[in-house]
Amino acid sequence: MSFASKVVIVTGASSGIGAAIAIAFAKEKANVTMVGRNETKLKKVAEECERNGSKPLVIVADITNEDQVKSLIKETIVKFGKLDVLVNNAGMAKFGTLMGGDMLQAYDETMKTNVRAQVHVTTEALQHLIQTKGNIINISSVAGTRPSKSASLTSYNISKAALNHFTKCAALELSTRGVRVNSVSPGPVRSDFMENAGSTFSLESVPTPLGKISGPEEIADVVLFLASDRAKSITGSDYIVDNGYILS
Ligand SMILES: NC(=O)c1ccc[n+]([C@@H]2O[C@H](COP(=O)([O-])OP(=O)(O)OC[C@H]3O[C@@H](n4cnc5c(N)ncnc54)[C@H](OP(=O)(O)O)[C@@H]3O)[C@@H](O)[C@H]2O)c1
Repeated sequence: MSFASKVVIVTGASSGIGAAIAIAFAKEKANVTMVGRNETKLKKVAEECERNGSKPLVIVADITNEDQVKSLIKETIVKFGKLDVLVNNAGMAKFGTLMGGDMLQAYDETMKTNVRAQVHVTTEALQHLIQTKGNIINISSVAGTRPSKSASLTSYNISKAALNHFTKCAALELSTRGVRVNSVSPGPVRSDFMENAGSTFSLESVPTPLGKISGPEEIADVVLFLASDRAKSITGSDYIVDNGYILS
């Protein structure tokens, strides 16, 4: 599954799933633009990309900042000349409950990053993806289908359900231009997610039917398949990678 001469943008590439996706594309010789806010972490992942295949373009940007989104697309085109694959991976969780009275703030912050920013990055990237008949992969979550038990994650659950529907609506609209749009919904995955959310809860303790959680490389494998020509008939689909979590 070579991606030689393909250009890929991965948002949230500084850790976890996004880092694994960037490294996997670099291994397959893609030209990768890595986006995130933490420059130190981005640089570490970039070194691994370079060691494994190709040197990425590192862009320090906040995807909720409209000017920074415009320039990350511009910089990618200036550097690599085109865009074939957009991976909308960046995401976060902000805790808040209805009864605690802090849900509205959590909702606004979560929707801004997990949905509005994805819509904006997609909008800015679109003309370039139409030119290459490229494709988009949104990293959603099983939380978009089955709400997690913790009420404090309600905003996160809503954001991923919205991202699933955005994926399907975009797939339908962009099908007329030959651009495919799919999502991948992981269950619990080893990453910095809970730490970045300010929680000490370990996802390792989440029970799943297969008795384990996933490594981020497993999500990257599915992303590369969906981004490749092997998936040329797949659009508007959501691929669940959850060790059976959603069944339990
Ligand atoms: N881990 C899981 O169990 C799991 C399960 C289902 C779905 N997911 C989804 O998988 C995706 C990746 O999460 P992860 O598990 O890899 O967690 P992570 O290690 O916390 O990675 C999140 C990434 O998103 C970036 N990010 C967050 N807000 C951003 C912003 N405003 N602008 C730019 N980048 C931003 C972070 O980079 P900076 O901090 O450098 O900005 C980081 O690279 C998320 O969409 C998450 O919802 C994760």
